Amino acid sequence: MAAKHYSQSVSAHYTSGNLGARILAGLRAAGKDPDALALDDLTPVDQFHLGGKPATLELIQRAGLESGMHVLDVGGGLGGPARVIADHADCTVTVLDLSEEFCQVGAMLTERVGMSDRVIFQHGSALDMPFADGEFDAVWAQHSTMNIAEKEQLYREIHRVLRPRGRLAMHENMAGPVQPIHFPVPWARDPAISFLRSSEGTRKLLAATGFREIEWADERETIIAVLRRQASLMALNGPPPLGIQLLIGTQFPEMIGNVARSLQEDRLTIIQGVFERN
Ligand SMILES: C[S@@+](CC[C@H](N)C(=O)[O-])C[C@H]1O[C@@H](n2cnc3c(N)ncnc32)[C@H](O)[C@@H]1O
Repeated sequence: MAAKHYSQSVSAHYTSGNLGARILAGLRAAGKDPDALALDDLTPVDQFHLGGKPATLELIQRAGLESGMHVLDVGGGLGGPARVIADHADCTVTVLDLSEEFCQVGAMLTERVGMSDRVIFQHGSALDMPFADGEFDAVWAQHSTMNIAEKEQLYREIHRVLRPRGRLAMHENMAGPVQPIHFPVPWARDPAISFLRSSEGTRKLLAATGFREIEWADERETIIAVLRRQASLMALNGPPPLGIQLLIGTQFPEMIGNVARSLQEDRLTIIQGVFERN
């Protein structure tokens, strides 16, 4: 698929239009004041990955992010994880994302929680990063590489923008031994923009690119339990006014059901990994 057409399909998948206004309306419906927002008011809508904020906090801990570091959040979406990193680890974070609407809305939400001096947004592709060599102390990739076919180029770019001994922190979906996964899923309505690699293939590729593995944790069972709890809550209360369906549409419950089914059938797994650049 030609690179331009491919990136247009991916950003079209994540673009719904009028997202900022819909999130502000969702916040009001959830009883929040959009003019006096706390960071955690945004959590139901700005953590676009399995496991929510607890998974983000766990990866911060695993990656050893520290005060004063400059972190690149590749495919950082609305910047939810980036704001948590800035807040909890006292880092500055640059979010790079292919979807222009996510960058614009992310910057608006960041301003509303008073963090624009610590979290900035840059529209662009992870395959051709607009950054200098060695610019970052750490690179963060949380559910952001599933749409990228060219993983060799992605990891080369991550290696290039990291300083020597800088860290790569990943929380990602991997292909399980049984294929294919069930569609639609939150990152793709059909296989055309979904490119998962196996855990072993990914670890080998990262080693060949110049990364030393520090930690690799299989999160499959944890996420299955989280999804079970979420499904029972949803069955009881219906979808909340502020949730990921605002980002991805009314198919979200079906998408998340397919993720749960694919995890249970060994078609999909979720990992957290930490690597050091050689
Ligand atoms: C499921 S969302 C995750 C967002 C965020 N990491 C989070 O956890 O809240 C996937 C994100 O990856 C971005 N993305 C996909 N392909 C990309 C690419 N080639 N370069 C930059 N961002 C990309 C999408 O635009 C989307 O914002």
